[in-house]
Amino acid sequence: MIQQSWRSVVLGWLCLEVLLLLAGQGFAIAQVQRGVQARRAMVVTAHLLASQVGIDILRQGGSVVDAAIAVQFALAVVYPSAGNIGGGGFMVIRQQDGRVYALDFRETAPLRAHRDMYLDSLGNVIPGRSLYGHLAVGVPGTVDGMVKAHQRFGRLPWHRLLEPAIRLASEGFPLTQREAAKLNRFREKFLQYNRKPPPYVRPDRPWKAGDTLRLPALAVTLRRIQQEGRKGFYEGETARLLVAEMQRGNGLITLEDLQQYEARWREPIVTAYRGYRVISMGPPSSGGVLLAQLLRIVEDYPIAQWGWMDWRTLHLMIEAEKRVYADRARYLGDPDFVRMPLRGLLSKSYLRERMRSFRFDRATPPDSITFGNPYRYESEETTHFSIADSAGNAVAVTTTLNGPYGSFVVVEGAGFLLNNEMDDFSAKPGVPNAYGLIGYEANAIAPRKRMLSSMTPTIVDRDSVLVMVLGTPGGSTIITSVFQTILNVLDFGMTMQQAVAAPRFHHQWRPPWVYYEPGRFTPAIRRKLEALGHVLRQRRSIGRVDAILRLPNGILEGGADPRGDDTAVGW
Ligand code: DON
Repeated sequence: MIQQSWRSVVLGWLCLEVLLLLAGQGFAIAQVQRGVQARRAMVVTAHLLASQVGIDILRQGGSVVDAAIAVQFALAVVYPSAGNIGGGGFMVIRQQDGRVYALDFRETAPLRAHRDMYLDSLGNVIPGRSLYGHLAVGVPGTVDGMVKAHQRFGRLPWHRLLEPAIRLASEGFPLTQREAAKLNRFREKFLQYNRKPPPYVRPDRPWKAGDTLRLPALAVTLRRIQQEGRKGFYEGETARLLVAEMQRGNGLITLEDLQQYEARWREPIVTAYRGYRVISMGPPSSGGVLLAQLLRIVEDYPIAQWGWMDWRTLHLMIEAEKRVYADRARYLGDPDFVRMPLRGLLSKSYLRERMRSFRFDRATPPDSITFGNPYRYESEETTHFSIADSAGNAVAVTTTLNGPYGSFVVVEGAGFLLNNEMDDFSAKPGVPNAYGLIGYEANAIAPRKRMLSSMTPTIVDRDSVLVMVLGTPGGSTIITSVFQTILNVLDFGMTMQQAVAAPRFHHQWRPPWVYYEPGRFTPAIRRKLEALGHVLRQRRSIGRVDAILRLPNGILEGGADPRGDDTAVGW
């Protein structure tokens, strides 16, 4: 059962009722109405305050990229478990003329990192070393990413985009029930990895919903970024504080690492799907490649005719997922370091070849090797936001510290959290990371290399008209959540809000299990899938998709994931 309380989001003009029936009784899709609708613009993020910041920037005449930058900084304040300036991410942009862009502000391994840095003298992975504390931190990319995005697509002056975040950090903001509970849950970790208790730890009692969280040191750091741009983070006082923090905790990042960091414009991965154009993030994210592979595989089958709850649809999707995640482990990594057979991976004939072993009457036998529990580090603590305007401009950003609150290290004096993205590398060939993902040479650690991601910020259009903007957190499950949300709308005719709320499932090749949220797999379907040889495991919740659909009449519909505090705000 999805435990988060499914709630009504009431924003004046919206009343959304999500009814999730008990496991096995089916999902009452018809109960979910359309999401927030608006004519001019839509912003959907993990937090109401961040969504409002985005809409305010658009109202002031900002571009969708301006809004995205302001949202990114606002989330670093109001959504500290994943919003960040000490992490990284990816931005996919569509201009109203149909041109598309992809910005990579993924973290890099520090210059002093090396391949075996998380192994003991016997060559075994040291548990937790890549996950917590100073050694887990990659060189942050967010601030340079925002600067580069602004240089190319900004319309409002830079300082205006930082102002809302600075105000929220210095004046404080009320904690939601979820954020308060999360901060309390990780209290010990904050105390363990910081010399002095950071502001995320309340000294007198546990946090409660409605408590005000003030982040004055973060406000000062944001002010430096506001005044000096890139230099306000990668040089000067902020850089000095970050490096001092690293030295206190035996971390690796130096001033040189910070100076050398560069966000990069990349070619987006563009694929056709049933007459639509799907634009997503290429390497160093695996998201766009795997999403394109999945779509190109299922395109050969009449899934819309079979139906959303038909066992053939589910079996096919699961079998496709197994195969593409195996490719991920073998081939994908940082394009600046590894040559990847992308043309081959995406070619129809290759994918048909991969599906030759697909049978309707049985699951391809699960690999005999099983791996550890990929969700030992379970979290939904990346964050995605989607922004679109009526002209067809759109931005999809997925950004992260990796785990909830990243490494838990808060830079003393500078007040921001550092990522634990180093865990996304393959610490040892074939040994699973926190998400149960395995990798080999292509994703081995090397200085300055970017760790392979699954983040999948995605935009869909058709015949030059914007259709959808979407993405989600969820580690390895990001790709399959985006995949399913796209099919929910394009093949199964759901509204954006229905598509986002609908229960999800996930297979990533290894471990050889299908994870599922209750609701889609009825007892009859479970029996059928098990008879085919699938091993099913129920999970609490998969992903937090925040998405926008442009309806045929031009109205924008927001789809905010009811699994979190996610909120759509329209204009
Ligand atoms: O880049 C990645 O694929 C991961 N660092 C994303 C982490 C994530 O989604 C955490 N939430 N579950």
